Amino acid sequence: MLSYSSYMLMAVAALLVTCHALPKCPEVPGLPGVPGLPGRDDLKGQARLPGLIGPSGSLLGPPGRDILPYLPGLPDSLDTELHNVLVNLKHRLCRLEGVLALNGKIREVGEKIFASNGKKVDFGSAVKSCEEAGGTIASPMNEEENKAILSIVQQYNQYAYLGIKEGETSGQFKYINGMPLNYTKWHQYEPNGKGTEKCVEMYTDGSWNDKKCNLYRLTICEF
Ligand SMILES: *[C@@H]1O[C@H](CO)[C@@H](O)[C@H](O)[C@H]1NC(C)=O
Repeated sequence: MLSYSSYMLMAVAALLVTCHALPKCPEVPGLPGVPGLPGRDDLKGQARLPGLIGPSGSLLGPPGRDILPYLPGLPDSLDTELHNVLVNLKHRLCRLEGVLALNGKIREVGEKIFASNGKKVDFGSAVKSCEEAGGTIASPMNEEENKAILSIVQQYNQYAYLGIKEGETSGQFKYINGMPLNYTKWHQYEPNGKGTEKCVEMYTDGSWNDKKCNLYRLTICEF
C-alpha cells in the first residue's frame, strides 16, 4: 500500500511533467461541477471543484466521488478530492504561466523558467538577487536556453552576465555550480581575457564574451 506522502510525490511529479510537456493548459477534465454552495450572510457562495467525471449519481452528492480510485490505499473521497485539487492547481498554474509569458515576464524552456528583474548590477549582486528569489543566475546549457536568455537580453537591450566563471586554469570556464560546460556560444576570438576576465556576458546577438565581474549587467535568473 502506498503511503500518503509517496502518493503526493507521485501526483506532484505527474503534475510537473505534464504541465511542461503540454503546449498549452489542458482543459480541466469532467463535466461542470455541482453549482456552488449557497452564500452565507452577504458572502458569495464558494465555487465547487468540477467532478472528475462529472457529478455522481446523486445530484446532491459531492463531485465525482463514486469513481474508482485511481490509486489504491486511500479512501475514495480523499483520493478524488486530492485528484481534483491537483488538476485544478495544474490548470491554474498553467494559466498563470500563460499570463506571465504573454506579458513578457518569463521565458519557458523545458523545465526551466528564465526571468529578469530589469536591474543592472555586478556579477556577485546578480547571483545574490537570483538566489534571494529562489533561483540561480541564468546558465544556458543548450541552444534553446541560450535563445530564451537572448530574447530577454534583446527585450531590455542590455548585456547580461551568465552563470559561468573561469576556473583556476586560464581559459577554462565552468558553470558556477562547478560543472563543466557542455555547450558554448563564444563570440569570434573569445574568450580572450587570458585569466583577467573571470565572468561571461551575453551580447545582444546571443554570443558570449569573457568580461570582468564588476561591471553593470542585466540580471537574468533561472528557476
Ligand atoms: C547539457 O546538459 C544539460 C543537463 O545535464 C542538458 O539539459 C543540456 O541539453 C545539455 N546540452 C547539450 C548541448 O547537450
